[in-house]
Amino acid sequence: MATILFFSIVISVFLFDVFLISSSANARYTNNRLHSSRTAISPKERATRRLVRSLDLSPQEDINSSEIDAPRLNEKKFKFPFLPTSDPSVEDLGSYAGYYQLPNPVGARMFYFFFESRNRNDEDPVVIWLSGGPGISCSIDLFYANGPFHITEDSSLTWNDHGWDKTSNIIYVDQPIGTGLSYINDDSDIRHDLTSVIDDLYNFLKEFFIKHPQFTHKNFFITGRAYAGHYAPALASRILEENEKANAIPIKLKGFAIGNGHINPHIQYPTIPEFALKHNVITELNYSNIEDSMRRCRAYTRNCVKGIKEACSVAFDYCFEMIKRTREYAGDTNFFDIRKQRVNGVNYDYSKMERFFDIPSVKIALNVPQDKTFVPASKTVFDAYSKKDYMRKFDVEISALLEKGIKVLIYAGDQDLLYNWDGKSHVMKSLLEMEWNGKTEFKETSMVPFKVDGAEVGSIITRHPLTFIKVSNAGCMVPMDQPKVSLQMIKSWMEREL
Ligand SMILES: *[C@@H]1O[C@H](CO)[C@@H](O)[C@H](O)[C@H]1NC(C)=O
Ligand SMILES: *[C@@H]1O[C@H](CO)[C@@H](O)[C@H](O)[C@H]1NC(C)=O
Repeated sequence: MATILFFSIVISVFLFDVFLISSSANARYTNNRLHSSRTAISPKERATRRLVRSLDLSPQEDINSSEIDAPRLNEKKFKFPFLPTSDPSVEDLGSYAGYYQLPNPVGARMFYFFFESRNRNDEDPVVIWLSGGPGISCSIDLFYANGPFHITEDSSLTWNDHGWDKTSNIIYVDQPIGTGLSYINDDSDIRHDLTSVIDDLYNFLKEFFIKHPQFTHKNFFITGRAYAGHYAPALASRILEENEKANAIPIKLKGFAIGNGHINPHIQYPTIPEFALKHNVITELNYSNIEDSMRRCRAYTRNCVKGIKEACSVAFDYCFEMIKRTREYAGDTNFFDIRKQRVNGVNYDYSKMERFFDIPSVKIALNVPQDKTFVPASKTVFDAYSKKDYMRKFDVEISALLEKGIKVLIYAGDQDLLYNWDGKSHVMKSLLEMEWNGKTEFKETSMVPFKVDGAEVGSIITRHPLTFIKVSNAGCMVPMDQPKVSLQMIKSWMEREL
């Protein structure tokens, strides 16, 4: 009981998407699997297995890691089982799944999906999507938000009419290692800081472009949400730095986009109880009980963002105490979308996806070893990482990138509580306070309606190369709640100056 309680509180509060990874949930899935293996396999399943055999997609032997010259990317073109076969273009669509073998630690593998642009438009850029956490699998955003497919209740797939693969060649990667389908052999190999996470990501990208040289001349964009507010600018800086080196594979980085991002915790975190109070998620009395931890959260994050390292882990404790209390008072309100209620104690129910990845033929199609378990949200990854870098702010990096002409899009669904939009007092405030050469002009630019197909769907403020968009009626996962708006937004931002 204590363990389950711990998980449902800790995971739901600390990880920015929520799963009930309790022993009972696992037992349920295990039972399902045992049950289905005892019964006769369906014609659909049999057809899938035949297909898998005919394409020779059976799992490869592990690459001998001491042979350093061997390719580090083990990739296969794949076709998901259970995809609607009526669409003829499915057969020759370029969908790839693979593992990047890290130089160290030995045995660590980083999993990724790569989908070539569905419209086969030669102009379409390459995009990498990064989910937050740290420790949230990219599959959550792929299957529930902006990927090519969504999962149905009976574990089949449907096309997402507003998948971002309609305007880009998109990579989804499970990182840091230990997340999703990426794995490590030993928990002591887990990543503890942003630098090593960015090393892994950059090394992966390098190998990706070696494997797919025809994509190197295309424009490149980094996208993601929540904790990607830290990853994206750090990866962008790293790419520019590496591009300068003599024998580099130049990556044509044009910009990065962050949805409901974790950018400046000192400004953002203390607004969580304020936003909750303002939107009647908690009462005045509840709020007064949170104020103390809120004050401490503000004070310690101030020191952390100033660069006093020791303050960062204390800040983390106070801020999460504050969030935990807000969570308790908020009852069943979904933290990522205050219009919604939690389901069975979690903000979103991702069990369809967990069941999907439990299907042996799915693992076979993706080249995932049968003994590897899909980890939708890794608490191990989160805990290892969080104390050191979590509460730092990254707007310094963003400023430097803006000054180099890298386009930045910060967008926010207006119903998210955790990374909330609240007038000028939150994400917007951290942008307004950011020091860069366009600061004054950005401050003086007024916000105007953001329209898609003539309808007002939010507000926008833009001063090249920085754009901020507030998306109405959306939570933390904007492409989940406003699929059409999100596709239009990312497309027009990438194609021209919004
Ligand atoms: C890996 O390769 C090295 C060098 O080729 C060899 O000495 C070693 O035995 C190989 N290891 C395995 C597990 O095959
Ligand atoms: C929040 O405050 C209300 C009164 O304003 C109170 O009834 C409720 O019990 C409080 N919630 C918690 C979890 O203490």
